[in-house]
Amino acid sequence: MSNALVIKGFGGERKLSGTVRTTGAKNAALKAIAATVLFRDTVTLTNIPEINDVERMFELLKDMGAEVAHSKRGAYTVTIPKGFATELSTGIAKKMRASVVLTGPVLSRFGKVSFPHPGGCVIGSRPLDLFVDGFEKMGATVTVKDDSYVVEAKGGLKGAEFFLKNQSVTVTETFMMAGVLAKGTTVIKNAAMEPEIEELAKFLNTCGAKIAGAGTPTITIKGGSLLSGKGHPYKTMPDRIDAGSFLILGALAARELHITHCEPLHLESPIAALRSAGVAIETKKNEIIVRAPAHLKPVDIKTHEYPGFPTDLQAPMTVFLTQSDGESTVFETIFEGRLNYTESLAAMGAQITMMDPHRVLVRGKSELRGRKLTSPDLRAGLAFVIAAVIAKGESVIHNVDTTIDRGYEDVDARLRAIGVEVERVSAIPEVIA
Ligand code: EPZ
Repeated sequence: MSNALVIKGFGGERKLSGTVRTTGAKNAALKAIAATVLFRDTVTLTNIPEINDVERMFELLKDMGAEVAHSKRGAYTVTIPKGFATELSTGIAKKMRASVVLTGPVLSRFGKVSFPHPGGCVIGSRPLDLFVDGFEKMGATVTVKDDSYVVEAKGGLKGAEFFLKNQSVTVTETFMMAGVLAKGTTVIKNAAMEPEIEELAKFLNTCGAKIAGAGTPTITIKGGSLLSGKGHPYKTMPDRIDAGSFLILGALAARELHITHCEPLHLESPIAALRSAGVAIETKKNEIIVRAPAHLKPVDIKTHEYPGFPTDLQAPMTVFLTQSDGESTVFETIFEGRLNYTESLAAMGAQITMMDPHRVLVRGKSELRGRKLTSPDLRAGLAFVIAAVIAKGESVIHNVDTTIDRGYEDVDARLRAIGVEVERVSAIPEVIA
C-alpha cells in the first residue's frame, strides 16, 4: 500500500493563480535537529516543516534517548539526557542520507558514534570518504565492518585543518558541528557555501559557539563547551527548493502566482535562468510573483554548488525546458545518477536525448501526455507533479510517501489551493513507467 497523486493536466493552458506559502527548509531543519546534541539544556525549534524526513530524524534522536516534545504544528523542543546512546538505528538511518550529520555532534560530545552506511535518494553513489578522512584528522579511529562504521575518539576530538576535495554540504555541516566541542581550532577549507550552512552557524553562535566564515569557502571553529538554548529559539529559514519548485510551476502554468514567505536572494540563479527564458518574475522582500509567458526560449543549465544552479531544482527545470521553443542542454555536475527520471518524461512525450550520464539535450516545445509515473527521488517526484500539471490528460504519480512527502509539506493541499486538480489516493499498485 502506498499513496499516489492523481493529477488532471491542463494541456498547456495557463490556469493557476493565487498564493503559495513557502515552508521551513528541510535541509536546514534536519541539521538544526542534529545540532541539539551539542546542547546542555532544552532547545526550542520552530517553523520546522512537517515532512517525513523530519519525522524520521526525530525518531532517530528519540531512539537514542532524546526527549522530544511536539507542542504545535512546526514547534518542537528537544532535550538530550546524560544516558544518550551513541548508536544510530540502522532501520532509520538506512532510509535517510541526512542522518549522517548526527555523527559529528554525537562523536564530539560522547567520544563515540556508530552508524550504517546511510540510504536516501537514488541519485548515484554517495560516498562517505570525506567523513572518514575528517574523523581521522580530528584524532578518531574509524572501523568499517560490513556496512557499518564505528568511530571512536578516546579523550575527545581534536581540532584539525582539512581541505574538502568536493564542496560537500553535509560534510561541511558535520565538521562544523564536530568542531564546536573539539579541543582547539578546526578549519574547513573548500567548504560548501549553501545558505543553510550559514544559518546553522548563526544559530549555534547565538547559543555560544565560535564559528567564523560560514557562507565562505573557509570556516574556522574554535572549540568550547556545551551550548545553551535558553532564550534562543531556532526559526527554520524558508525552503529555497520548495519556493523554486513552485516558481518553475508558475513559470509554466500560472496567470499570476505569488510565492510568499521565501527568500528571493537564495534563488538568484534559477530566477536568472527563468528570466532569460522569457518568464516575467517580480521579486519583493519575501515574495516572488511569477507569470507564465506565451512562449519560452531555450536555456542551457549547469548545476553547481551554491550560489550556482541547485541540483535539487534540476529535474523541475528540465520539465520547464520541454516547453521552450528550441534546444537546451542540462548538465548535472553534482550527482551522477540524477538524470534517470528523464526516461519517464520522454514517455510523456518530451524529446530528451541522453548525451552522457551527466548531460541531456532537451528539444522543445513538446506536448506532454498524462502517464503513470514512479519517481526515483523526491526532487524528480516534484518534477513529475509539474509535468503532470502541464500535460494533457490524467497522470498518476506513485510512491508519494517515499519520495515527495519526504521533502514537501502538504503538497496536495498547497497545489489545490492554486488551482491544480489533484487528488491523493491509496492502495494503487505501483507501476514503473
Ligand atoms: C546535500 O546533500 C543535500 N542534502 C542534497 O539535497 C543536495 O542535493 C546536495 O547537498 C547538493 O546541494 C541535505 O542537505 C540533507 P554533498 P549531500 O555531500 O550533502 C560528494 C535533497 O533532495 N561527496 O554536498 O549529501 C558527493 O558524491 C537532497 O534534499 C564525496 O565525494 O551532498 C557529491 O558529488 C538530495 N564524499 C558531492 O560531494 C563524501 O564523503 C556533493 O554532495 C561526501 C560527498
